[in-house]
Amino acid sequence: MLTPQLTEHARDVLRADDRGGYTVPSPRLYPYQWLWDAGFIALGWATFDEKRAWEELERLFSAQWSDGMVPHIVFHRADPGYFPGPEVWAAPGPVPSSGITQPPVLASIVWRLLERAKDDALAEAKAKTLYPKLLEYHRWFARARDPQNTGLVALLHPWESGLDNSPIWDEALARTPRAALPAARRDTGHVPTEQRPSTLEYEHYFGLLEHFKALGYDSGKLYHASPFRVASASFNAILHRANRDLLALSETFETPDEAEIRGWLDRSVTALESLWDETDRFYYSRDLLSGEAIRLRTFEGFMPLYAGTASQERADRLAETAGDWGERVRYLLPSTDPSEESFEARRYWRGPVWLNVNWMLEQGFRAYGQVDVADRLRGDGLELARTSGMWEYFEPHTGEGLGGHTFAWSAALVLDWLENGG
Ligand code: GLC
Repeated sequence: MLTPQLTEHARDVLRADDRGGYTVPSPRLYPYQWLWDAGFIALGWATFDEKRAWEELERLFSAQWSDGMVPHIVFHRADPGYFPGPEVWAAPGPVPSSGITQPPVLASIVWRLLERAKDDALAEAKAKTLYPKLLEYHRWFARARDPQNTGLVALLHPWESGLDNSPIWDEALARTPRAALPAARRDTGHVPTEQRPSTLEYEHYFGLLEHFKALGYDSGKLYHASPFRVASASFNAILHRANRDLLALSETFETPDEAEIRGWLDRSVTALESLWDETDRFYYSRDLLSGEAIRLRTFEGFMPLYAGTASQERADRLAETAGDWGERVRYLLPSTDPSEESFEARRYWRGPVWLNVNWMLEQGFRAYGQVDVADRLRGDGLELARTSGMWEYFEPHTGEGLGGHTFAWSAALVLDWLENGG
């Protein structure tokens, strides 16, 4: 597909997934609004309709809880084709929603939209209105997910990571209670079973959900009561980057919160760098209940480059590692190292390439002058979209499109790439 056709195709995908003010990730598989999807999707809209981009974020924030949390799914309109839906979550937010959060890319998205805006007046007005909501969201992280001020926030559910069935969670998840599913899964009706998480995993996911619901989703209780508590390298890298961008917003609008944000940043630089393993020369997430590093090589280990906290020496080493992975697959970047036992080329977060990962890591590697890896991440991402289409994820050896089709963040990030230099 030539570039003008690719652009038109990507726009058509966003239009097809538009439900009027918010965009669904994929029509049948994910019929609601998701948190980090909305962030990436806003970047796509911004390339041809800035007003619509801001609307995407405003709709998401309409579901923000009074304690500051932004939920990971917003059920604007009921859809029986999805499990677990609003009646299962039964969460207390102002709009029906889930009761947990997702990777906090939002402040970074707002900053990027503001920086690149063509309509400056609109962007300034919108960013100014969103700023206090972002600040409340980040304060919630500090309060509810890092009550001991360690500099690392905890995930209490694999769904919060956005990397649902990554092998990183296997051990920690296996220790959590299972609950029988009250209704049939719907996802495997839309996508072949071998490309989705297992039913055993779903029973653990659901067990955690029930546990949190029984506690009334009270964020003062959840952290201490959760049988799953993990400091994810990727999630914390995204939050660190988002705090940097929140600081930039605060400076632009001259708000009085600079010192508070700098305090979070100081703590998270040190804490993120403490995830580095000098023997394996890689970053690992940490299980906060056992205190142990989770020694599994996934794309998470590169994410401190996106945060910008790594030293040049560590970045150079990580570029070599990415190069090694690249020799074992046709397309960068497999979500799990192909030499890991848990690698599965076609199953969701256990091996396939995801365009949002390439998009974040491209920025990370480029910021450290690792141009070859950065170019390949972008080039492979675009080629996958060009040759296979706007799929949710891709087989790293063959490039076959997998999972949901008409997948909105794939289309949106292709548009962002094309607009910023192809
Ligand atoms: C899956 C993905 C998650 C995404 C959601 C909607 O749950 O793991 O990252 O946000 O689908 O696309």
